[in-house]
Amino acid sequence: MQKIIIAIDGFSSTGKSTIAKQLAQHLGYVYVDTGAMYRAVTLYAMQNGYISQNEFNISDLISQLNNIELSFKFNTSLGFSEMYLNGKNVEKEIRTLEVSQFVSQVSAVSEVRRKLVEQQQLMGINKGIVMDGRDIGTVVFPNADLKFFINASAKTRAKRRFKELLDRGDNITYNDVLQNIKSRDYIDSTRKDSPLIKATDAIEIDNSELSLEEQFAKIMQLVKKVLKSQE
Ligand code: DC
Repeated sequence: MQKIIIAIDGFSSTGKSTIAKQLAQHLGYVYVDTGAMYRAVTLYAMQNGYISQNEFNISDLISQLNNIELSFKFNTSLGFSEMYLNGKNVEKEIRTLEVSQFVSQVSAVSEVRRKLVEQQQLMGINKGIVMDGRDIGTVVFPNADLKFFINASAKTRAKRRFKELLDRGDNITYNDVLQNIKSRDYIDSTRKDSPLIKATDAIEIDNSELSLEEQFAKIMQLVKKVLKSQE
């Protein structure tokens, strides 16, 4: 059967990665979480003192971009790929609220975007890929066979994210999470380079009131339709 490219974009914590993982598993496709790549570059910037609450030394980060090696390795027991930064598994470190607080600034840097987009496009060369992010349907794969734009209210997203962070033992408040989501929404959708916007041919899904099962069924129906049209 012909393999396709599925692009999933949307605001922070809309559950894009859950859908993308489910789809990739079901179809036997590769899943790529591009947010993890921007988070890993952010972690690198934090570890090297290029970004902090007080300053962001953009030119130092840009000068080191060639020394940042990003890769995904499939974890068979988890059933998805984990993010590696210069050979080290950083899957847990990149999910902290601290990284979330800096990631929108780092991902607004055009040189960072250029490097990551190039790598993402190479990953899709053989199709059979589900990629999630903010600019997948607009910049990375403008010709993707199927594009989704996922949305949910900021409060719904903050509640889900707060629970996830609490479950992993992070010491945070609901308000911190809500503020972070609102601030990332603003920076991600107003930045100059590749702002988060719905591609004109993307199918919008608001999952505020949908269960995971309902959402998956709805999306799979659309995927099957596209696969059938390509037979
Ligand atoms: O999907 P996420 O919340 O883990 O993404 C983290 C940040 O990375 C998000 O706030 C914006 C940025 N990002 C981006 O600019 N482009 C992408 N394709 C994916 C993420």
